[in-house]
Amino acid sequence: MNMQSRVFRRLAMSLVAATVLSTVTVVTAREPFTKDELKAMDEKLTASAKRGYDMWYGARADMSSNGLACANCHPDGAATNPQTFPKYMPQTDRVMAFRDMVNWCIENPQVGKALDVSSADMVALESYAFYLHRGVAIDTGLQTRQTAGPTPKSARGLNVKGTGIGFDK
Ligand code: HEC
Repeated sequence: MNMQSRVFRRLAMSLVAATVLSTVTVVTAREPFTKDELKAMDEKLTASAKRGYDMWYGARADMSSNGLACANCHPDGAATNPQTFPKYMPQTDRVMAFRDMVNWCIENPQVGKALDVSSADMVALESYAFYLHRGVAIDTGLQTRQTAGPTPKSARGLNVKGTGIGFDK
């Protein structure tokens, strides 16, 4: 190996070492969150869950073409069982994530336009449903007995204005 390539090799190796070191610095544990930071983060989640609540009650027109909204069949998030996902669903013959099932209900019972799975609005529906299920043990794959929500007689009279989370009027 000549002098030039030896110098080059040494340079390349120290570059690799520097990269590894800087990566290690980035992944070290951070300081605990301050109260203000926790409050700000909680407010972001609450805002997302509130948006989800509004959508649950039909705030997004393109999600339904027959006047039905999630709340007609899943009041207070009933029978959505977020703690059981991902799980195999017979109607699609595949393992589905919670958000896939949300889109399934938008496209089938509501005959609406499916949401972009990585959109803020999809996350909002998840924030609402998961928020209402805090503390419920994860039970991935559980095929619940309570799969059918109540059959709505009419979609009229829905409260489309969100009033808060954790309860439905
Ligand atoms: C017309 C009634 C109806 C509407 C409206 C409806 N769903 Fe459903 N939903 C059902 C029925 C019935 C099932 C059970 C399907 C099955 O298990 O095969 C279901 C299942 C689900 C599940 C899976 C539950 C489980 O444990 O497997 C999720 C999640 C869900 N719905 C979310 C939603 C969301 C979110 C909306 C609104 C965008 C919505 N649904 C609108 C009737 C409805």
